[in-house]
Amino acid sequence: MAKIGDIDVGEFPLLLAPMEDVSDPPFRALCKEQGADVVYTEFISSEGLIRDAAKSVIKLDIYEKERPVGIQIFGANMDSMLQSVDIVTASKPDIIDINFGCPVKKVVSKGAGAGILKDIDLMVKLTKAMVERTHLPVTVKTRLGWDHDSIKIVEVAERLQDVGCKAISIHGRTRAQMYKGNADWRPIAEVKNNPRMHIPVFGNGDVNTPERAVEMRDQYGLDGAMIGRASIGYPWFFREVKHYFETGEHLAPPTLQERVEAAKRHLQMSIDWKGEKLGVFETRRHYTNYFKGIPHFKEYRTKMVTSDHSADVFATFDEVLERFADFQFV
Ligand SMILES: Cc1cc2nc3c(=O)[nH]c(=O)nc-3n(C[C@H](O)[C@H](O)[C@H](O)COP(=O)(O)O)c2cc1C
Repeated sequence: MAKIGDIDVGEFPLLLAPMEDVSDPPFRALCKEQGADVVYTEFISSEGLIRDAAKSVIKLDIYEKERPVGIQIFGANMDSMLQSVDIVTASKPDIIDINFGCPVKKVVSKGAGAGILKDIDLMVKLTKAMVERTHLPVTVKTRLGWDHDSIKIVEVAERLQDVGCKAISIHGRTRAQMYKGNADWRPIAEVKNNPRMHIPVFGNGDVNTPERAVEMRDQYGLDGAMIGRASIGYPWFFREVKHYFETGEHLAPPTLQERVEAAKRHLQMSIDWKGEKLGVFETRRHYTNYFKGIPHFKEYRTKMVTSDHSADVFATFDEVLERFADFQFV
């Protein structure tokens, strides 16, 4: 049974990865319904938060139904990170996660995200201070190292644990790799196999089939799998993995009815959260994946992503249901 601080997250939990512009409250709620055991917000800038920037503050919103939920923040400045911990703690998530893995240049160039992998002492110092600042469990998400020649993740993870980090999620790539090549889970297993490690070690990177999740659990011996891209537009991935764990068999893919239902609920939750205009706009990016595989779908997709009124989008969903009633997903 894995535990993050006092939170019981079950046997080999599946975690929804933090993903910018993807892991918003409606999407997190859908993933939770489909079996995600822990969900994370997208990363939130500590500098934005302390300036009360609306764009950052709205990302703190969470629904009760998605708990346990972690709010992820990034930054490299001690004062800003500590003030952000206060702000995040006040918005009552279950977990605070620190992003020490974002490879994007504009983040890294400020020493934040994966940039901190060049200064492990600061990484440990920041984590320690943040842990001491809040009663909430603090977790870390990071990469194997800055580049292939500087992988010290076993030592880094142990140091983070020693200053009170309650779980670590490791993406099996270096910063230099960005998203290229395959994730290497072997160094993550080395972290787990360190006899001094007692906090959960979650693996991340390329868990894109139920078989891969089993491999992470059984061959690499990790404590849980954090899942990102495989869930984008496909929250059913979580239940498919869980079904495979339980039965060794593949669950049939979601029906058209279920996909339309999810798209409708996603849109409605987004509107309830952000209002008609932003709700309609921001849900657009999810539709393509919900309906992936349907031939001659372009006309409908275009309508979904160009309609400015939710009534038109809802009507298009109903048209899809009628027009493709006989389509079988494989
Ligand atoms: C669109 C997108 C946005 C992401 N945003 C974040 C983020 O905000 N914070 C973070 O720690 N990682 C972020 N990541 C990285 C993922 O959390 C994850 O580490 C990576 O995608 C590898 O896992 P996967 O192969 O399961 O997708 C993002 C990835 C994608 C594809």
